[in-house]
Amino acid sequence: MDLDIPLDRSAPTLLPQQIARGVIDLIVSGAVPRGAALPASRALADHLGVGRLTVVEAYRWLAEQGYVAARRGSKTIVQDVGAAPSLPATAIAPTPAKESDKAAIDFRPGRPDLDAFPRRRWTALQVQASRTLPAGAFDYGEPFGHPPLRRSIAAYLQRSRGLTVPPERIVITAGNGQGVDLILRALPDHRELVCEAPGHLALSRLPDIHSIRRIRTPVDAEGLVTDGLPPADGVRRLALVTPSHQFPTGVMMSVERRRALINWAQQTDAMILEDDYDSEFAYDGRPAVPLAKLDRTGRVIYMGTFSKTLAPGLRLGFMVAPEPMLERLAALKWWVDWGGGVLQQAALATWIDNGGFEKHLQRMRRLYRERCSLLTAALSEALGSRVRFLDVSAGMHFTALLRSPFDAEEIARRAEADGVRLHPLVGTAPGQAQDEAAFVLGFGDLSAAQIVAGAQVLALHAAG
Ligand SMILES: Cc1ncc(COP(=O)(O)O)c(C=O)c1O
Repeated sequence: MDLDIPLDRSAPTLLPQQIARGVIDLIVSGAVPRGAALPASRALADHLGVGRLTVVEAYRWLAEQGYVAARRGSKTIVQDVGAAPSLPATAIAPTPAKESDKAAIDFRPGRPDLDAFPRRRWTALQVQASRTLPAGAFDYGEPFGHPPLRRSIAAYLQRSRGLTVPPERIVITAGNGQGVDLILRALPDHRELVCEAPGHLALSRLPDIHSIRRIRTPVDAEGLVTDGLPPADGVRRLALVTPSHQFPTGVMMSVERRRALINWAQQTDAMILEDDYDSEFAYDGRPAVPLAKLDRTGRVIYMGTFSKTLAPGLRLGFMVAPEPMLERLAALKWWVDWGGGVLQQAALATWIDNGGFEKHLQRMRRLYRERCSLLTAALSEALGSRVRFLDVSAGMHFTALLRSPFDAEEIARRAEADGVRLHPLVGTAPGQAQDEAAFVLGFGDLSAAQIVAGAQVLALHAAG
């Protein structure tokens, strides 16, 4: 196979990086499918008219990032990157499936109960905002968003997370995805992003867009493994973590690890992005203590979202920005969204202030806890000791490990034919055995009947 990769020798980007990016484009577009062997480095070097070491370097970089794996016999094999159209839907594809190819029961994680979205209340709040906001509120907004919402969120963070932050440091975002993107733009001198592996696929692809290097760092039962983090070497880095409820394994980061991560950031001049995407939903009474609460160094940027507590379609979230970054972020926010739309923000501010939002959270917490128990009970009943769960005490998804003669992809393929879409965990779960298939099971948007029926189909195909 010849790979046609355009190279620009006058561009500031080094040739190995250009080649690596070219290969990624071919993988992502599906032109080079998963499982295919890339040409030998010598052959590709001859084809492109570059030195062999240039291609070796590009392949090394691709292997490090998980796009390819080097096999014995020196073959370089394309891995599942979860983006090629020919692949089955992966754990957390950000784009929802088209109506037409929707399985009847889809265990996709990260989706709250969309039918439970409080439409009447939300409509009333928006109508009220539209009627009562002063005319000035309809002008171009402040770059960090509607000031009353920033005050409401500051007060909510104090109540719900024990975090004390001034409203001036709250930046309204279109969700944590935008938050991470803004930070990557604001810190262009940070050249590497430490990501959890397994982790959130869509977010961990952001470095590709920003052309920064991703360092996939394993997760175990205590969260991100901090021992192997890169030492201080002059390279500035960011770490993107989900300490309250690691996505997708569900583990909570231990305090030792939290300290180690903050110490690492301090010693290596790194910044930490804390993605607190769903810790409102804890079923074991665990207190939601953000990493940001431990931080005395100003290196943790805390991010929260209303995508799980309300609905992802609203595109509402926030971050707590460090003081020294405020000016830069304000400039960026002007150009990105000019502070966002005022009506939704005003509606949410009122709802948080009048206590309605927290009542909604209580109701949803009960609902998700019931669904979580139902799913674990249905799977345990069908599979007995052949199934175990990594952490089922929070959130609207968990990771299940099933002992099976088949691998997760095979089970998913069979279940799909029965109208059940499963999402194999991408990567390896902490403690996962050879004969265990791992799935990330989202249950937020499934009815009791769908949960039971879906669990039965999963159990049937896992058993063989
Ligand atoms: C771990 C994690 N982080 C962030 C996000 C993105 O959230 P948002 O909708 O706020 O951009 C998601 C969404 O599924 C998620 O699962």
